[in-house]
Amino acid sequence: MTIQIAITGAAGFIGSSLALFLARLGHGVHACDWAERSGCTPLDTAPDSTQARLRADRLAILAKTPGIHLSHFDLAASGAFAAWLAQRQPDVVIHLAAQAGVRHSMQSPLDFVAPNLIGFAYVLDACHRQGVRQLLYASSSSVYGMRDSAPFMEEDRTDRPESFYAATKQANEAMAMAYHAQYGLRSLGMRFFTVYGPRGRPDMAPFLFAQAMRRQETITLFAKGELLRDFTYIDDTVAAIAALAGPDALWEGATVVNVGHHRPVSVNSFVKSLAQQLGVEPVIAYAAMQKADVKLTCASETRLLGMIGQWPDTPLEEGLSQFVSWLQDWDPLLKPA
Ligand SMILES: NC(=O)c1ccc[n+]([C@@H]2O[C@H](COP(=O)([O-])OP(=O)(O)OC[C@H]3O[C@@H](n4cnc5c(N)ncnc54)[C@H](O)[C@@H]3O)[C@@H](O)[C@H]2O)c1
Repeated sequence: MTIQIAITGAAGFIGSSLALFLARLGHGVHACDWAERSGCTPLDTAPDSTQARLRADRLAILAKTPGIHLSHFDLAASGAFAAWLAQRQPDVVIHLAAQAGVRHSMQSPLDFVAPNLIGFAYVLDACHRQGVRQLLYASSSSVYGMRDSAPFMEEDRTDRPESFYAATKQANEAMAMAYHAQYGLRSLGMRFFTVYGPRGRPDMAPFLFAQAMRRQETITLFAKGELLRDFTYIDDTVAAIAALAGPDALWEGATVVNVGHHRPVSVNSFVKSLAQQLGVEPVIAYAAMQKADVKLTCASETRLLGMIGQWPDTPLEEGLSQFVSWLQDWDPLLKPA
């Protein structure tokens, strides 16, 4: 059965991959983002920035894919999302738009208020008022804060955020629970764990490390490279979201779920595998652990398995190989003639 699905944050890494995946399954995809076709957003107005170039490329792919209808507006502008939703009338809303990034939130916490808090409130309210059957939204492993024990279980405490970004995601979960308690809105917060792969975010470690290594630049690893991260390949993430949005997913009310594989690797091992795929010898400098970084992320998979059963589990080497071949093609690093 095909349905109508609204996706916010469609120019983003996860949103664009999800839109393509769902459209290829034959669903009607109503995709929105505040990024223009040039990839520029009100926070990033240089069309030649890596972020803008990537968003523009992702939007260009979506624009030529049958079944995807693209719109452009700021979710945090009063009435914008509600008007769009009323026009589109989707069965399901998958809300991925946000200002993302722990490090960015250290430097500019106020950039996160409008998209992550005000925008989220508008999404919730419009979904409730227009009787959307279910809302799925992006949360983050960062809600678990600083801890040494693993795996992270959904019922563990999440009231000690290490960054303002994490605080906005934790707030989103509380806001969604309140809309369920008050109005019965069905919602699922998906706590993603370091998603990587082709067309990935240029502010995240896989992209930054790969580009630095390709240029023979020194990469800085914090905490001796011993931080552990549960990396999740983009195709696995997208398959899990699609299954969670589908009619067979077993969840109800307002709840949250980890979308991660319970397979953390150290940043040292990650860099070693990435360097092997790139065929380079990394130049590494070590630095002390940074404020707002957490030592470990490790998802308990139990709840997700209970909701959707088995889901794809791409091995790290395979995922990195796909990422590297995309990156080498996307940015050949040609020297000027
Ligand atoms: N990628 C990860 O590893 C990861 C991990 C945990 C959580 N998440 C969350 O998953 C979601 C998607 O992440 P991503 O990696 O694709 O991020 P992304 O930055 O690539 O995509 C987010 C998109 O939201 C759009 N957006 C931001 N503010 C907007 C606004 N006011 N109006 C309309 N659009 C707006 C941006 O233009 C961007 O295209 C985010 O909510 C993020 O916080 C991602």
